[in-house]
Amino acid sequence: MFPFGRSGATRSAGAVHRSGPTQSPRGPADRDEADVILAAPAHLRGCRALAEDVLGNALGMTTPTPTAGLALVTGASSGIGLELARQFVDHGFDVVVVAEDDAIGTAASELRSGSREVTHVQADLTDPKNVERVWAEVSALGRPVTAAALNAGVGVGGALADTPLERHLEIVDLNVRSTVHLTKLLVDQMVANGEGRILITSSIVAVAPGPYHATYAASKAFVHSFAEGIRHELDGTGVTVTSLMPGATDTRFFERAGMQDTPVARGPKDDPADVAKEGYAALMEGRPHVRAGSLKNAVMAELGAHLPDVIGARVGAAQAKPGGADPASLKQTVMSEIGHLPQRVGSLVGAVGSRVRR
Ligand SMILES: NC(=O)c1ccc[n+]([C@@H]2O[C@H](COP(=O)([O-])OP(=O)(O)OC[C@H]3O[C@@H](n4cnc5c(N)ncnc54)[C@H](OP(=O)(O)O)[C@@H]3O)[C@@H](O)[C@H]2O)c1
Repeated sequence: MFPFGRSGATRSAGAVHRSGPTQSPRGPADRDEADVILAAPAHLRGCRALAEDVLGNALGMTTPTPTAGLALVTGASSGIGLELARQFVDHGFDVVVVAEDDAIGTAASELRSGSREVTHVQADLTDPKNVERVWAEVSALGRPVTAAALNAGVGVGGALADTPLERHLEIVDLNVRSTVHLTKLLVDQMVANGEGRILITSSIVAVAPGPYHATYAASKAFVHSFAEGIRHELDGTGVTVTSLMPGATDTRFFERAGMQDTPVARGPKDDPADVAKEGYAALMEGRPHVRAGSLKNAVMAELGAHLPDVIGARVGAAQAKPGGADPASLKQTVMSEIGHLPQRVGSLVGAVGSRVRR
């Protein structure tokens, strides 16, 4: 009934909007130049387009510059996604931006500052039919997606026993299912074209259990592992996959997840613009993953990856427990857990030993 978003907008009413420069007819010389540009790797096209934009602006020229390609960004109405979309536009990409609510229209207007084409699609990605509809809209543009940031995601704070099932299933449907669905559609097209770059927003919580936001942390572990796994499969195809691992970032995330009253939400946070900048750079470099933001994130991710899960869970719980006391410092929490490590390892070895002897 409402093919373009839950606001009920129709195509003509405009939940799918496109805007951008009017393309002037190109002569043969222009076509030659465009062919050369389009044959270059996406990140080089981005540099070229950016340089031409800057030069064009400096000279007061309004001629549209060649595009760096077409980028798809989900969850682009706010926070990290909006800043990722800005990175793409600033580097010469035309973009398709997607989000659930009609604020995506405002975000698209904000992004339409230069000569780049910005299309927005309003869609609730928890519904697979809407994922297909977004893809149909992208395909209708008649050009391949050369880069994508699959970033839409939500969380829910609190113990599983204290929170409604629907919130947890929404996480699975959005963070996990829609990411796999869109990635499959993108990969099929990109492999056929022999090029493409996919950025999947995971999190530093992907590397350890996440008590009090367990479904969310598990969803991020899923997409992180998924990104690293398919990246390997795609080796040699011209398609790269990068996992963006932010730490606590200053967006609407904690409020939406009902996590304001947690130590992590009360603590220092990174600027989403900085996170997006690092994510974009890692994507263009074709890196496997990037732990974006502060040094604390890198330390947390490294610890999470190397501590036994039972201890990682205790460190995570200290950060995400509703009403939890702020740990005097992260170092103190971690050191106290590491201090108990010999004792825990001793009991673990004892338990394993007694099982083996049985
Ligand atoms: N903030 C952090 O501390 C942090 C840390 C690590 C990872 N992350 C991840 O970063 C990503 C972006 O989050 P953020 O921090 O930037 O939070 P945010 O500002 O709340 O952005 C979330 C985005 O996802 C969209 N979205 C939510 N539900 C959707 C749905 N059903 N269908 C389509 N789009 C939907 C939102 O659009 P609507 O408003 O229209 O629903 C919004 O554009 C998420 O994957 C999150 O898990 C965040």
